[in-house]
Amino acid sequence: MEPAFPAVADPSEARRRIDEVLEWTARSLADEFREVNGGWVVRSRSLPLVHSLNRLQVKQPVDPKEVLRLADEHAADLAYRHIEVDDAQTAASLQHSLFSSGPGWRLDREVFMVLDAPTASARAGVGADPDGEGTAVLTAPVRLDDDEADRLMRQWFAEEHLDSDPDVVDQVSEYSLREGGLWKEQVLGVREEGQAVALTKSRARGSVGWVEDVYTAPAARRKGYARLLVGHAADAARVAGRDLTFIIADDNDWPKRLYADLGFRPVGLTWTFHRDLGR
Ligand SMILES: CC(C)(COP(=O)(O)OP(=O)(O)OC[C@H]1O[C@@H](n2cnc3c(N)ncnc32)[C@H](O)[C@@H]1OP(=O)(O)O)[C@@H](O)C(=O)NCCC(=O)NCCS
Repeated sequence: MEPAFPAVADPSEARRRIDEVLEWTARSLADEFREVNGGWVVRSRSLPLVHSLNRLQVKQPVDPKEVLRLADEHAADLAYRHIEVDDAQTAASLQHSLFSSGPGWRLDREVFMVLDAPTASARAGVGADPDGEGTAVLTAPVRLDDDEADRLMRQWFAEEHLDSDPDVVDQVSEYSLREGGLWKEQVLGVREEGQAVALTKSRARGSVGWVEDVYTAPAARRKGYARLLVGHAADAARVAGRDLTFIIADDNDWPKRLYADLGFRPVGLTWTFHRDLGR
């Protein structure tokens, strides 16, 4: 039977606190941070290919024309535009205006989820031997070092086809390391025959926890590793007494169901508009 999870007590407050730490992260890692009409802009000439560090963040209702003007103004030298929108109405009107003006833009929707339940069933199934072929029984994740984590992250980037440009992979990898350092993250992982095959990052800032970058190498999937790692990170956040622990998932993909099963509840959406200008 499905356990009954309580709803998040105050989703909008949870969302506000998540936005706050994400803004702090962008401010801390970007070369420049600037307030603009309805939001803010970060630019990083040291990592120009990292979208997150060269983006417009729209937080309040803003007219789509003004959003585009701001994006063009602040990213004039870049070969792409990257806009993240927290305001649902602005996202809807921007989507309408961009997608009716022709191809070129890509839209992703992400859901912010907050841990709000006991993880009694978190690792049910871990240690199971689904194929009956002697899969190792897991008891606890291991800590991966930076090199192991970086190797696995690069495998993920290759799966996402970022490796058609090696500079992109190097810059995103550098960004990932900087973000991990800022958050003093622990990288939890699983090794098979000495090789790291799965990871999840457990981050904390004060009473806020962030479970980020859930990845299992293709050959090691469906063995319960992601469930083990995210469940462990969630348990650790509870033991540490964090009062808000979040995870960000693609709203159009299935892993959000795994996170829901582990006790994460949706508290809001964010829309990312991206366009490569092809120059
Ligand atoms: C998402 C990902 C980390 C899952 O890793 P995994 O180690 O294979 O996951 P698990 O074996 O722990 O599976 C956890 C649950 O998800 C389910 N699941 C796994 N793969 C699935 C799939 N392709 N479709 C639907 N459900 C799936 C499993 O059945 C399992 O449910 P159960 O425990 O109730 O049986 C892995 O597929 C991956 O690395 N994908 C690419 C990166 C990514 O999308 N990361 C998530 C970002 S939000």
